[in-house]
Amino acid sequence: MHHRYLKKYGISLLHVLAFVLWPCQSALVSANDLLRLQDPGLASYRAPVDVVWMDGVLFTANSKTGTISLIETSSLRCISEWQLSKSLSALERCGDHLLALDDSSHQLLVLKFLKDSAALKIVDRLSVPRYPVDLAVSADGTTVAVSSLWSRMLAVFRTMPDGKLTEQNRTPLPFAPRRLLFSDPSSLVVADNFGGQLCVVRVETGSVIGELALHGHNIRGLAINPKTASLMVTCQTLDSRTFTTYERIFWGVLMQNGLHSIPLRRLTEVGASNGQSVERDADSNGGSYGSSSDSQYAGTASASQQQYPLGTPSIGSGDPGAMVVTADDKTLLLISGTSQLAFRTASHLPFERLKTGQRPEAICLDDAHETAFVANRFDDSITVISLQGESPAVTATVSLGPTRTLTTAEQGEQVFYNAKVSLDGWFSCHSCHTDGHTNGLLADTFGDEDRGAPKKVISLLGTADAGPWSWNGSKQTLEEQVKTSLIISMQTQLPTEELPISSLSAFLRTLKPAPSHVESAEKECDTTQVEQANLLFREAGCIQCHGGSAWTSSEIWDVGIHDEMGESRFNPPSLSGVSQRAPYFHDGRAGTLRDVLQSGHHNSETPLTDEQTSLLEVLLNSL
Ligand code: HEC
Ligand code: HEC
Repeated sequence: MHHRYLKKYGISLLHVLAFVLWPCQSALVSANDLLRLQDPGLASYRAPVDVVWMDGVLFTANSKTGTISLIETSSLRCISEWQLSKSLSALERCGDHLLALDDSSHQLLVLKFLKDSAALKIVDRLSVPRYPVDLAVSADGTTVAVSSLWSRMLAVFRTMPDGKLTEQNRTPLPFAPRRLLFSDPSSLVVADNFGGQLCVVRVETGSVIGELALHGHNIRGLAINPKTASLMVTCQTLDSRTFTTYERIFWGVLMQNGLHSIPLRRLTEVGASNGQSVERDADSNGGSYGSSSDSQYAGTASASQQQYPLGTPSIGSGDPGAMVVTADDKTLLLISGTSQLAFRTASHLPFERLKTGQRPEAICLDDAHETAFVANRFDDSITVISLQGESPAVTATVSLGPTRTLTTAEQGEQVFYNAKVSLDGWFSCHSCHTDGHTNGLLADTFGDEDRGAPKKVISLLGTADAGPWSWNGSKQTLEEQVKTSLIISMQTQLPTEELPISSLSAFLRTLKPAPSHVESAEKECDTTQVEQANLLFREAGCIQCHGGSAWTSSEIWDVGIHDEMGESRFNPPSLSGVSQRAPYFHDGRAGTLRDVLQSGHHNSETPLTDEQTSLLEVLLNSL
């Protein structure tokens, strides 16, 4: 009764409070915010994406409900669940406080855990750059960093004795970031969410002091291995020069899932060169996959990056994810796409595997490094792994509460992230269409029925309005395209009548276009400039092919960019969210929007002036 009452009136009470306190915002900020207690017995779909251990209690950040679930580790019971926001993207421990990222209101929340009442209260709320996705706290607890995806920003905060935070600096990044890791209290490694870029930032000044490009993409795990003094990175590597046939996927030629290792010393060496040289271990889009296993940590002055393949034929390891290294040199690494955990009991030993819940995405250790906890995003559970025996073993699975019946689109989302849909589990749809967007690479999926002409992976954000589908517009319905993707891109072994076409299509239809650069950066748009740009967009004839609310059209056109197989007519991509998906054109030949506008392909008859180009750029950056 009590919860129901609060639940029913909690929101409006908060509104009233906010209204009363509105004139003195600082009072609102410093007030101990009311948190609503959720009934953990309520059927729900929480989708935990992060997990933290503190003082015998586990805390999960639940992405779909915006709640934090508390689990007592002695009894392995879910003891309470607190409503913080509409959604949460990350959770960290900072001294005796917890930090949570609210990606619906773009805020960082500082929380205090009241052990006696098993309650959480909000101590502080800070605004962060829009679309925050990850958090890191330095080992000495003095510094906190937040990465924000679409706004491509890093924000750094200092901790105060009372647990509150003050903002130190904000740094624009050369890519859309996700994973963060302090390599020492003064420097931070920031990883690309889509491609393979890493950069090192000096937290004091917020300056980028080094950049490095991995031969890979979809970086989801970063860890330091103290034993080998190296940075370990989990990512995937797609070979654009091969096609998606049974044999090539079977042998792991198309997509590798790997653990890369870079001597820490090298990060600072790259830093010392003032970040001017972008190091590449091979050409970024293609190239062979180095696969040494025993000598992987040679770490000599000349050794740069070592790559350890996690999968072998018939045992794929799609979507390698977060990892931890224990004080006694055990490495635990999630294989999110196949719902497994890979472990090795020492750096020189091979990996073995354990089964987890569905789509494990986060892992943490208790202080003694005796137990590891894995948050499984798609079945609202925690897998408990004991590290005390000879080798790690699953000892329990804890439910965060009953899961409600999922909608068709939610079922489709689970399929989208499931590598088991592909041949032998090598990759998922997300491996190429990262989080529904694009990894920015080319792939030869010959959805266009020709091989030898790799195409840029198309962003699926906003795809509902982007038909007809595929670069050449050959698929009249989304369902038709999804079926081709399952059969050809994935080489799925599912029987035809069981193909999850309707659920995948339903999920894809829920994906909104990526927020523009202008929206993400909260920039004020100069309205007269945008009006002028809109006029020019008409006058220059762009509207003919990129019209309507989705800025596209259903015909195919020859705009002078022909592929290797002589195909010349393509469907104009929707321009919604276009600023977030460089490189451009079906072969990725244009690195920036400016390159697109100046390429001459679109407008060979009347090339745009510099001024017109800049004006159109303003428009494209705001769509
Ligand atoms: C190996 C990388 C790869 C994988 C895996 C992959 N795709 Fe794609 N996808 C592509 C490429 C490349 C294109 C563009 C192909 C073309 O036009 O010839 C594409 C195009 C599409 C399109 C058309 C979008 C548009 O606006 O025209 C859809 C929809 C799509 N993929 C869905 C999926 C789904 C669903 C899955 C999983 C079942 C999947 N893809 C797996 C690479 C991939
Ligand atoms: C005759 C039809 C046509 C006209 C006119 C046209 N476009 Fe395009 N546009 C296309 C086609 C087709 C593509 C894809 C070509 C390819 O990738 O090979 C494209 C691609 C683009 C892209 C890259 C999108 C991506 O995701 O790769 C941008 C940006 C763009 N057009 C903007 C414009 C602007 C601005 C104008 C006006 C100056 C314009 N276009 C005029 C047909 C047209």
